[in-house]
Amino acid sequence: MSLEEAFEETKKELTITTDQLNEITNHFVDELNKGASVNGGNIPMIPSWVLNYPTGNETGEYLAIDLGGTNLRVVLVTLLGEGKFKFSSEKYPIPEPMRTGNSPDELFDFIALNLHNFVISQFGEINKIEKPLPLGFTFSYPALQTAINTGVLKTWTKGFDIDGVEGNDVVPILQNSINKLKTPINVVALINDTTGTLVASKYSDSKTIMGLIFGTGVNGAYYDMANEIPKLHGKLPDDIVENNEPMAINCEYGAFDNEWKVLPRTKYDIQIDNESPRPGEQFYEKMIAGYYLGEVLRLILLDYYSKNLIFKDQDIKPLQAPFAMDTSYPSRIEEAKDKSFIDELFLESFNIKITSIERNLIHDLCILIGTRAARLSVCGIAAICKKRNYTSGHCASDGSVFNRYPNFKSRAHNALNDIFQWNCDPKDYPIQLIHAEDGSGVGAAIIACLTEKRLEQGKSVGIKSKI
Ligand code: BGC
Repeated sequence: MSLEEAFEETKKELTITTDQLNEITNHFVDELNKGASVNGGNIPMIPSWVLNYPTGNETGEYLAIDLGGTNLRVVLVTLLGEGKFKFSSEKYPIPEPMRTGNSPDELFDFIALNLHNFVISQFGEINKIEKPLPLGFTFSYPALQTAINTGVLKTWTKGFDIDGVEGNDVVPILQNSINKLKTPINVVALINDTTGTLVASKYSDSKTIMGLIFGTGVNGAYYDMANEIPKLHGKLPDDIVENNEPMAINCEYGAFDNEWKVLPRTKYDIQIDNESPRPGEQFYEKMIAGYYLGEVLRLILLDYYSKNLIFKDQDIKPLQAPFAMDTSYPSRIEEAKDKSFIDELFLESFNIKITSIERNLIHDLCILIGTRAARLSVCGIAAICKKRNYTSGHCASDGSVFNRYPNFKSRAHNALNDIFQWNCDPKDYPIQLIHAEDGSGVGAAIIACLTEKRLEQGKSVGIKSKI
């Protein structure tokens, strides 16, 4: 097989046609419905217990932390009302070994210590704080919730793998670590980053219909009417039933098609899954999320190398290390105006000298990988729109792939147009991806505030027996 033939084959495998978009979207709608049914399905469709929409008039001072990727973020948010807010925040890189340790204490004590120091930096001495500070905990992993302040981790995703957390409620684990340091903080709400994004964006833009993350992982949240969620029938407290309130649903749709009925998975996607800490899970996420895009490129290059089509007679050991290329590689390669950047990148990172043919090949592969990710990404959006009969609105989007991968947004809009056939000027597309407000900080603060208010008013924040 020649290099041209190999590339043509890869191109065919990575290209998502309009017919495929439609087939995947239709199956996606079925899976969203199945996930919300009493028996459940692949997509967890987690009721978040975030009830009702923010009004934009919420006020107060709240702490928020965000755990979901490579950094821990701690935020102090002041909600000012009228859809306005201000905040100060700090980022702390999570040391690599803590992401795969064998006890939760190491990670949660690390969080608590940084939180403690942050509070001191903001408020001065701890004993000057009169009443415990309410904290919204953005935990961006699939956590099953029977109330707003609980979250039992279903499975780690995005390469995290710490023993002793799956199957446990992460809120008391965090609260215990906080209590050890006697920091006056109450964890009042557990939030997914998509739910936070949804709420933060709705606080300042009433046209928001969903909150989406295209980052290290992928996921989406939207509002459904609590009474219409089949798996909650009989479990909702009376006040929620009577008021028929909207509730945010954290879909966890990275798990879409784990049964592998429609996704056009390639041998590279299958290898990524097989070698991951949780094979058989997050099939959709493993094809499109930032954690995996560089790995797809690396595996394609290794495959071509094994067929003696590229990097001939070169020692490629550094490239053979799993995850040797993060998503910034395909992203920077596609973005490079001067393609000699690709030569330098391969030489500096992997000590590989590339030819001009290889340079163009690598660039074209990055376009294919990025385009596939963007096109597949919108199937989740289109499915939520179809399920909720949304024909217009803003999809509040955040995450490193959305913010930094070149052309992601325009490719996503093109694919949405392929599905919905608006065929007008792209700026007039009725459904638009919009850059989101800070979901994990501001969103968590608004949710903490909404929760406090509900509790003050004696309203429910969880299933019948857990009020
Ligand atoms: C997690 C979700 C999260 C998404 C984006 C996924 O791996 O399961 O909870 O919303 O990543 O951060």
